[in-house]
Amino acid sequence: MADPWQRAYDFAVEVARKAGEEVRKAGESEIKIMTKSSTVDLVTKTDERVEKIIIGSLKEEFGPDAHCFIGEESVAKGEACILTDKPTWIIDPVDGTTNFVHGFPFVAVSIAFAVNKELEFGVVYSCLEDKMYKARKGKGAFCNDEKIEVSDVTAINKSIIISEHGTDRSPEKVNKIFSTMQKILCIPVHGLRGSGTAATNMCLVATGAVEAFFEIGIHCWDIAAGAVIVKEAGGVLLDVDGGPFDLMSRRMVSANNEVIAKRIIKEIEIFPAVRDDAP
Ligand code: IPD
Repeated sequence: MADPWQRAYDFAVEVARKAGEEVRKAGESEIKIMTKSSTVDLVTKTDERVEKIIIGSLKEEFGPDAHCFIGEESVAKGEACILTDKPTWIIDPVDGTTNFVHGFPFVAVSIAFAVNKELEFGVVYSCLEDKMYKARKGKGAFCNDEKIEVSDVTAINKSIIISEHGTDRSPEKVNKIFSTMQKILCIPVHGLRGSGTAATNMCLVATGAVEAFFEIGIHCWDIAAGAVIVKEAGGVLLDVDGGPFDLMSRRMVSANNEVIAKRIIKEIEIFPAVRDDAP
């Protein structure tokens, strides 16, 4: 049977490239910064404009009502964030908005597609590095058309781990984040890193540059595309309590293998995060 979503996958790559070019160009002119949930949760006109470009292009290609959309900036403006069985695009137009604002050189366009609540493919365009990561369920993961694979390290003390601080700066949460990081650092691991974009962090797991990335507080649009890429590169996705990965839960461990994932999970101090699909 013909692959029903190949056209959508190929088109997603084209749209991600076009969106990334817009982001790159916008970074060269003055950036108007606004805030969302807190003074450190940044958004720019570029985030909003690029999301409109992506959704507009997809509607033009596939018809205005053929698919559903979950987009970071549309949700911020009050649209629902519910994943149904219908074909759904999950979009972060500028993942790493803080990086974008500061000129820190990791910014990604993240586009994923789910059907029957299962992720079919993911595209992450790290637009300042010009790296196009993509993966289609069952067909492997690629960076600029070269196949990528996770690392084969199983010894935690030979690993590099990524985590981020997110945008919730309440002292209790920050304490838990730092306490977790301290414990992991002192295992000891080779290093702790963070690129400032969840999508890129997941691609770094997929290429084998690092062994794992975990975070509590991310959103489905930050990680949906990266989730397919990590899995297709041979990696694993788990909840921070070791249970199954849940895209809407705002918590995730992505790793090269279960040994590394479970070793990290032992150290994670969990704190609550309101689900993306909470009523
Ligand atoms: C953020 C980035 C960051 C992560 C935050 C996300 P945004 O996404 O992915 O790495 O730590 O949790 O919200 O807001 O730049 O699209």
